[in-house]
Amino acid sequence: MQAIQAVLIPGDGIGREISQSVKQVSQVLGTGIVWQEYAAGAEYAAANGELLQPGTLDAIAACHWALKGPTATPIGKGFRSINVQLRQRFATYANLRPVRTLAGVPCRFSGVDIVIVRENTEDLYKGIEYMLNENTANGIKLITREASEKICRFAFDYARKNGRKKVTAVHKANIMKLTDGLFLDSFHKVAADYPEIAADDVIIDALCMKLVQKPEQFDMLVAPNLYGDIISDLCAGLVGGLGFAPSANIGEDTRIYEAVHGSAPDIAGQDKANPSAILMAFGMMLRDLGQVENAEKLQTAILDTVAEGKTTTADIGGTATTTAFTEAVIARLQ
Ligand code: NAI
Repeated sequence: MQAIQAVLIPGDGIGREISQSVKQVSQVLGTGIVWQEYAAGAEYAAANGELLQPGTLDAIAACHWALKGPTATPIGKGFRSINVQLRQRFATYANLRPVRTLAGVPCRFSGVDIVIVRENTEDLYKGIEYMLNENTANGIKLITREASEKICRFAFDYARKNGRKKVTAVHKANIMKLTDGLFLDSFHKVAADYPEIAADDVIIDALCMKLVQKPEQFDMLVAPNLYGDIISDLCAGLVGGLGFAPSANIGEDTRIYEAVHGSAPDIAGQDKANPSAILMAFGMMLRDLGQVENAEKLQTAILDTVAEGKTTTADIGGTATTTAFTEAVIARLQ
C-alpha cells in the first residue's frame, strides 16, 4: 500500500486514548497512512500559550487529510476555537454527519439511517454581531446563493454516489422569506439536476416533531448552518447518543474527520472512553481515500463487537475499557 500522509490531532481529554485506537486499527488494516501528529487544545495551550502546535495548519495544508480528536477552548478572551480556525482556514463548507440505529446500542427507535449535510461557513455563525446600543445586540443571518447551491449540490452528489433516495431541505422560509427563502430556492434549482433523487422540504420546527415521532421517514437532510448544527445533535440522540456519531468537514481540497463528542473530562485518562465515533470517522476517511474494503471491514467489526454486547464501554452499559474494546474490534479485523 502506498504511503499516505495524514495529520492526526489527538486533542484534549479522552482524545489521546481514542486516537491510540485509531493508530492501532490503521496499522492492522494496513492502510499505509503515516500519521503526522500535532498537539492542540486547552492542555497544549496551558503549557504553551497557544492552542495549536506551530506547523499544524501547514501540515494539514500539505497533507489534505486530517483526523482530529476533541479539543477544548479555554474560557476567556484571547483564544479562537480550533474548530472555527480550521473551518475558516480550509474552507470546509460541508459538514457531513451520518446517524443510524445500531444493534446493541440502547435507543428508542429502530431503522433510523439519516445523513445530515450542514452548511458550515455562513448563516448566523458567520459571527457578524454588534451592539446597536447598550441594551440591544444585533446578529446578521448571512445566506448566499453561492454557498446554498454548493451545499445542496454536495448533498445531491452524495445521494447519487451512495444510493440515497431522497434529500429534504430544512428551512423556515415561511418567516425568513429572504434568507431561508434563498436557501430553499437554491435547493429546488439544484434538485432539478438530479431527477432520479426525490427532493422535498420541511420547516425546521415541524422537522423536530417528525424526527422524534418517526425518524425513519427521513433519508438525507440538508440545512443551513444553525439548523444543521442543532438537528445533527438531535439525530445523534435518536440513535443512542454521542458515542457513535462521526463527522467529516469537507472542503475543496481538504477533509477533516472527527467524532462529534467533546473531550469528556469526566472520564479522561481512565481508559473508559468509547472510541467508536472516532473509529467511524476514520472509516469515513478510509472510504474517501478509496479504501472502501477497509472502511467496510472496520464498520462491520465495530458493529459486530457492539451487537455482540460482550465487550462494550460504560456509556452503553458495558464494563470494557477503551483498550479492551479496541482489541475486540481488532480481533475481528485479523
Ligand atoms: P462531551 O461530549 O465531552 O461529554 C458529554 C458527556 O458524554 C460526558 O458525560 C462524557 O463523559 C460523555 N462522552 C463523550 N464522549 C464520550 C465517549 N467517546 N465515550 C464515553 N463517553 C463519552 O461534552 P462536554 O462535556 O460538553 O464538553 C467537554 C469539552 O469538549 C468542552 O471543552 C467542549 O468545548 C469540548 N468539545 C469539543 C468538541 C470538538 O472538538 N469537536 C465538540 C464538543 C465539545
